Amino acid sequence: MQFYRPTLLDPERHRRAEFTSGNSSLDDWLRRYAGQSRRGNTAAVWVIADATYRVACYATLSMTSVGRFAGPTPLAKGAPLQVPVLLVGRLATDSRVNGLGLGAQMVKHILATAAELNVKAACRAVVVNALNPAAFSWWQRFGFDPFDAEDSTNLDLYLLTRDVAATLARLWASGFPARRV
Ligand SMILES: CC(C)(COP(=O)(O)OP(=O)(O)OC[C@H]1O[C@@H](n2cnc3c(N)ncnc32)[C@H](O)[C@@H]1OP(=O)(O)O)[C@@H](O)C(=O)NCCC(=O)NCCS
Repeated sequence: MQFYRPTLLDPERHRRAEFTSGNSSLDDWLRRYAGQSRRGNTAAVWVIADATYRVACYATLSMTSVGRFAGPTPLAKGAPLQVPVLLVGRLATDSRVNGLGLGAQMVKHILATAAELNVKAACRAVVVNALNPAAFSWWQRFGFDPFDAEDSTNLDLYLLTRDVAATLARLWASGFPARRV
C-alpha cells in the first residue's frame, strides 16, 4: 500500500468516514469536528492518506503555552511566565494500518514543524498528553520526557525544540521505527 506524505486535511477530498483507530472519540473528532476546528483556527489537522485519499493517520497541532511553574525545569528555566509550546492535541492511526510506521512518520513531521515554527514565532517544546500508559511509552520512544516522572498518573510529555534535530538524527540512526513509509 502506498501513502502520501503528511499533508493538511482537505475536507472536500480526504475520506474520513471509515477511519477507525480503536478509540471512538478520536475517530468521531476526525469525522465531525476536524473541519470546523480548522475553519475556526483552533487546530491544524495533518493527515497521511492512501492513494484513494482515505485517511490512514491524523494528528492535530495547536499553539499553546505552559505555565512556567507547572512545567519541568528544562522547559521552565529562564522562560517567561507562559512558555510557548506546540501542542499535539490528537494523533491516531487507522487500525488496518497499525505498525507500518505511519504514526512515526507523523511524529517526525510534527517535530520538523516545531523546528520551523520556532524560527518564526518561538516555540520552546512540543507537548502532548498521552491517551493512556501504552501511548505514553510510545511517545517516550521518540525522546519525549515526562512532565513529572514521579507521578505515574501524569501522562503529559514534552520534547524541547532545541533537541529536535538530535532526536531525529538519533531515531534515524537507530533504525526506529523498523518499518518506514
Ligand atoms: C499509538 C498509535 C498512534 C501508533 O501508530 P502506528 O502508526 O501504529 O505506529 P508506528 O507503526 O509508527 O509505530 C512505530 C513503533 O511503535 C510501536 N508501537 C505501536 N503502537 C504502540 C503502542 N501503543 N505502544 C508502544 N509501542 C507501540 C510499533 O510496534 C513500532 O515499533 P517498531 O518499529 O520497533 O516495530 C496507534 O496505535 C493509535 O492510533 N492508537 C490509538 C490512539 C492513540 O493511542 N494515540 C496516541 C495519542 S496520545
